[in-house]
Amino acid sequence: MDRSAAPQAASPAPRAPETDSAPPSAPPPARPEVESLQAYSAPLEGRRGLLRLDFNENTVGPSPKVVEAIRAIPADQYAIYPEYDGLREAVLASLAATPGTIAIEQVGLFNGVDAAIHAVFQAYGAPGDRLLTTSPTFGYYTPCARMQGMAIEAIPYRLPDFAFPFEEMLAALSGPPAGAAEGWCPPRLLLLCNPNNPTGTRLAPETVLALAAAAPHTLVVVDELYEAFTGDSVLPLLLGAGGQDPEGQESEGQESGDAALAATAGADPFAACPNLLVLRSLSKTAGIAGLRIGFAIGAAAVVDRVSRVTGPYDINSFAVTAAFAALADQAYVDGYVAEVLAARQWLVERLVAAGVHHHVDGGNYLLIWPKRPVAEVDQALREAGILVRSMAGKPLIDGSLRVSLGTREQMGRFWAAFEICDANPG
Ligand SMILES: Cc1ncc(COP(=O)(O)O)c(C=O)c1O
Repeated sequence: MDRSAAPQAASPAPRAPETDSAPPSAPPPARPEVESLQAYSAPLEGRRGLLRLDFNENTVGPSPKVVEAIRAIPADQYAIYPEYDGLREAVLASLAATPGTIAIEQVGLFNGVDAAIHAVFQAYGAPGDRLLTTSPTFGYYTPCARMQGMAIEAIPYRLPDFAFPFEEMLAALSGPPAGAAEGWCPPRLLLLCNPNNPTGTRLAPETVLALAAAAPHTLVVVDELYEAFTGDSVLPLLLGAGGQDPEGQESEGQESGDAALAATAGADPFAACPNLLVLRSLSKTAGIAGLRIGFAIGAAAVVDRVSRVTGPYDINSFAVTAAFAALADQAYVDGYVAEVLAARQWLVERLVAAGVHHHVDGGNYLLIWPKRPVAEVDQALREAGILVRSMAGKPLIDGSLRVSLGTREQMGRFWAAFEICDANPG
């Protein structure tokens, strides 16, 4: 037997220190940041068999080609660690615009975008550093910042229509508030959710680039989880395909964004914005939320740092197989997105005609303020077999429900139930 790994095997067992105190009754504490942390929790149980409009998932499931690919996995593949060869290339091919311009090293693979977010904070967030973000926004950014001991500055969206607070963001990135110059450092991280979950607020890609250009010492993370539904990704712009602004508006900060872009005509799309990281996932569009796979795209050095704090096999083999099949079937995702957008229009027409207070913008979800107390309507819908998400307690949107958009038939079921639940007390 090789005993080389058992140092001091011949020495006597160490004795416990003698003390007067009783044996400890509690386990040792975790780091102070973790002891005071409120874990991110979501009502994830008991959802099967119900119409799930509560997590913005794909409501019809993945492409049959994905199902087929998973069924065809031979059992011996479970016995070996996953292999990722060719997956980054498949991600790049799916980006379609100017294929080949993004390099393989500029793509990171993660166990869902949640894992990418967690890794970003681990790699970049030190105690006392600042996270700048908006409010309300996706709930996972806050615990990730807190577990690193970071301070959080969340700038509210502007009422009445939840417009992006561009000037306030720019000011928070560019310098200290008047009279507080001493020791000021730019935020370590800026987290932009585009479109924003849950307000749907859309940010023109030029505006994202302008913010990144204004804060070269801040890592600007743009969470594009829902971009497939309403556009606005920075990637086509970085790849030289031009940005889309469906409303034809001049976007805020467009000039400085364009200036940042002028230098990207060469091979590296991140040369002019090495501090930008884009997050994408297959959860909400391709219908594989349960398999967990997401991507981070940015400068090779940033992708490298974020990948350093993830395990070598964090994405499982099922997710890899599903991702290859999903990425190869863009037509399925396009078809689903078109269905969701048609259903959204149908539902919005009903909401307008019935005078229901609502807010709709980007993404595959919208906000509705019921006339009855939100908890009662939430519960009544649940009893009718429909799950939505109450936004009770969230800044600016307290009292609303976030309703994920699915197919026209599913929205029909939702609307029929909502009309009853919001009208009948008790
Ligand atoms: C804005 C946003 N980012 C990230 C995530 C997590 O995505 P994933 O399933 O890829 O971990 C979600 C899921 O709800 C989300 O809404």
